[in-house]
Amino acid sequence: MKRIIFTGGSGKAGRFAIQHFLDHGYQVLNLDRAPLNNPAVATLLTDVTDSGQVFNALSHFTTDNPYAMAGWSPGPIEGLVHFAAIPRVGIVPDNETFHINTMGTYNVLEAAVKFGIHNIVIASSETVYGVCFAATHRDPEYVPLDEAYKVDPMDSYALSKIVNERTAQAFATRTGADITALRIGNVIAPEQYPDFPGWFTTPERRKRNMWSYIDARDLGQITRLCIEKRGRGFQAINAVAGDTSSDQPSRALMAQYYPGVRIIGDLPEFGTLMSNRLACEVLGFQQAHFWRNEVPKG
Ligand SMILES: NC(=O)c1ccc[n+]([C@@H]2O[C@H](COP(=O)([O-])OP(=O)(O)OC[C@H]3O[C@@H](n4cnc5c(N)ncnc54)[C@H](O)[C@@H]3O)[C@@H](O)[C@H]2O)c1
Repeated sequence: MKRIIFTGGSGKAGRFAIQHFLDHGYQVLNLDRAPLNNPAVATLLTDVTDSGQVFNALSHFTTDNPYAMAGWSPGPIEGLVHFAAIPRVGIVPDNETFHINTMGTYNVLEAAVKFGIHNIVIASSETVYGVCFAATHRDPEYVPLDEAYKVDPMDSYALSKIVNERTAQAFATRTGADITALRIGNVIAPEQYPDFPGWFTTPERRKRNMWSYIDARDLGQITRLCIEKRGRGFQAINAVAGDTSSDQPSRALMAQYYPGVRIIGDLPEFGTLMSNRLACEVLGFQQAHFWRNEVPKG
């Protein structure tokens, strides 16, 4: 059985991604400050901002530790997924967001590579494109936003994610590790689909997300594909659905809310304004969950 370590698996995105790994035959160990209500997964309560805790936690599962937890024995680790973070601005003070996200990522990456885990995924964010948490309205230079875009965010959360991408790149360069930074779009858990019709009548509410979304289960698929597609070194990849979360055509949304912004390439009628071409072409992502099939009828 393939085994992975997952940080932040008790959160909104992590619990679905973990279930996806379990459904594909993986054994998963979760490191999180909070417990996870999943009897198939061992959770070791760990604060990732404390390097000592992270090294110690990994030692439980990578070395011959007689105190290893029930359901998990020491042995080779296929990869590590790092989702633990403060997931937006406004939850804790800005300096704490920056501190937890950047030091947590540094500590996890350092411990992982020093324990010989060279196959890693970290959670970056759509916010690196600088639109989502900008102080005031900000036009992107072009859409669909792709991984070649010159990122320049102004908020502490997106800045922490940019720093994390650079940290990951440094560890990949130093060790030869495969590290993918997933620029995750707005994560939608299955229970959120009833919210969509309300968003259709107020499109401005999702304007800052460029109407992007990613079903939490599809995010699980993308995360697993990153672990399984080796040999890519450091790479940043958008993790978004191929359609928007709006019932309006994408060009109509742009004309109303971002007039004058350049649209490059062929844009399907309801095509995403945040490119998922790399996820599809490099990872082989195939979207399984579309809001049009998930939103309750009537
Ligand atoms: N939800 C989204 O729409 C979205 C979009 C883009 C990126 N992301 C990123 O995806 C990841 C998961 O987001 P989420 O929505 O599941 O967030 P969440 O807050 O629901 O989950 C984050 C988890 O990390 C844990 N955590 C926080 N600080 C920790 C620490 N110091 N030590 C150990 N665990 C800690 C929390 O207990 C929680 O279980 C985050 O890195 C987030 O920045 C989320």
